[in-house]
Amino acid sequence: MTESPAADRSDRRWWADAVFYQIYPRSFADLSGDGVGDLLGVADRLGYLELLGVDAIWLSPVTRSPMADHGYDVSDPRDIDPLFGGMAAFDALLSAAHDSDIKVVMDLVPNHTSREHPWFEEALRSPTGSAARERYIFRDGRGPSGAEPPNNWRSIFGGSAWTRIAEPDGSPGQWYLHLFAPEQPDLDWNNPEVWADLEKTMRFWLDRGIDGFRIDVAHGMAKPPGLPDMPATPDGSVVELLTGDENDIRFNNPGVHRIHRKIRRVLDDYPDAVAIGEIWVRDGSEFAQYVRPDELHLGFNFALAEAPWSAARIRTAIDESLAAVHAVRAVPTWTLSNHDVDREVTRLAKGADADAGRDIGTKRARALILVELALPGTAFIYNGAELGLPNVDLPDSALQDPVWERSGHTDRGRDGCRVPLPWGGDRPPYEFSTSADTWLPMPDDWASLTTEAQLEDADSTLSLYRTAIELRKSRSEFSGDSIDWYGSRPDALAFRRSAGGLICVVNAGTEPIGLPPGTPLLSSSPLTGEGLLPPDSAAWLVPPAAADRGA
Ligand code: NOJ
Repeated sequence: MTESPAADRSDRRWWADAVFYQIYPRSFADLSGDGVGDLLGVADRLGYLELLGVDAIWLSPVTRSPMADHGYDVSDPRDIDPLFGGMAAFDALLSAAHDSDIKVVMDLVPNHTSREHPWFEEALRSPTGSAARERYIFRDGRGPSGAEPPNNWRSIFGGSAWTRIAEPDGSPGQWYLHLFAPEQPDLDWNNPEVWADLEKTMRFWLDRGIDGFRIDVAHGMAKPPGLPDMPATPDGSVVELLTGDENDIRFNNPGVHRIHRKIRRVLDDYPDAVAIGEIWVRDGSEFAQYVRPDELHLGFNFALAEAPWSAARIRTAIDESLAAVHAVRAVPTWTLSNHDVDREVTRLAKGADADAGRDIGTKRARALILVELALPGTAFIYNGAELGLPNVDLPDSALQDPVWERSGHTDRGRDGCRVPLPWGGDRPPYEFSTSADTWLPMPDDWASLTTEAQLEDADSTLSLYRTAIELRKSRSEFSGDSIDWYGSRPDALAFRRSAGGLICVVNAGTEPIGLPPGTPLLSSSPLTGEGLLPPDSAAWLVPPAAADRGA
């Protein structure tokens, strides 16, 4: 059995078993008709989120931004971008969401600002060594005329992680660090002003009534002292890494925990607010340090989003994730995808025959959401996953992610998982917008995936999500913080919630399998006539003794 951490916790908070729904605002719903989603679009669709049954929404950044990285380049962290409707739209959404009993969590981007942030503009106007420069990471270049970057770091989006500026007199000048795009200069977290400003931002939004933050690149703010070169690979290149290689010296430096303790102290003044870190750290004990009792409440755990369709790998992902957080008595979190990775329907089809690909991906994604929602802890759903949306193969001319240009057109980036959601009708823009010119083109074959098409279809992926969330909320079998594994064949897995008794079975093999004793509650594909669980499927069962207890 995996040890129980928080069952006896008297301080159990609303997020400990909440279902969060991530909204990528550009892509959710466009009320203004400009082809880009906005906050009044979200407010307009709150009824849908109520039907889905989610407890909270996490909004990817909506603060002021020139949108070089679609909002992750913030030029004013204490205002809402007019593209999304400005502050009035935000306040309207916040109050409507709260009226619907839905909490609102915002993205907070402490690692970097936009190049158009007034601080960076001031730094460009100011001399080397000035206080304005010291808010960022400016260094002299290497080589006799300083024409070489200060070290060999590569940007995660491709190219060098350093850009040279022109000094105020026009001469070639210092270099500044940007782990992401050049439009996203990294802040220097050794500078107390940087912290003071983040605290101001946090209090600004918390005082306005939001329910917490998702913290971008939460493992990245503290840089290694002296900014040493990264080790080169045998072929002499320096690897660009997006998702947390343990050997990437730029991330997961010990100094970051001091910052998270400060963040937590602010949050403690708002006891109902939650902080969730984006932590691409795979080592369990290192990850756990971010969610110690005096640091962040929750950390994104990408183990299920990375696990291939293999019973053994899914089981390991679950075991390691639970062990990591239980060691520090923190709450586990689960997610199958987000705006940075392939959608699960596409990812899980990998290796399958091309014709059958999407169907198999959909079946497996339906199975995996039953795994996610059966587990103890907090669940995150990326908008559109509940519709079974796949990634879209976009034409080159449509691509917008800076990764495409920065990689010299070798990496297509993340646009394929960011295509707007289809709401109704039988052709683009599927009621996402009144404009046919949506910010990313929508495919012609999504008519059967719209919310309208799926809401009334009991077999749809949307109906599966709704039923699963409803059962998870209302049935006592989902209680408790730990699981027990059943012995099972190597291509299957089965676990049981230790306290409530819910059983979850997954068939990752190629033949139908028998189920343990119990009453089937829900399955991702219909059971066979003999009551067997087909391949690429999952089922929930209520154990025999609890079958009569019901909801
Ligand atoms: C992580 C975000 O999820 C991603 O979308 C963004 O590009 C980087 N951080 C940089 O802010």
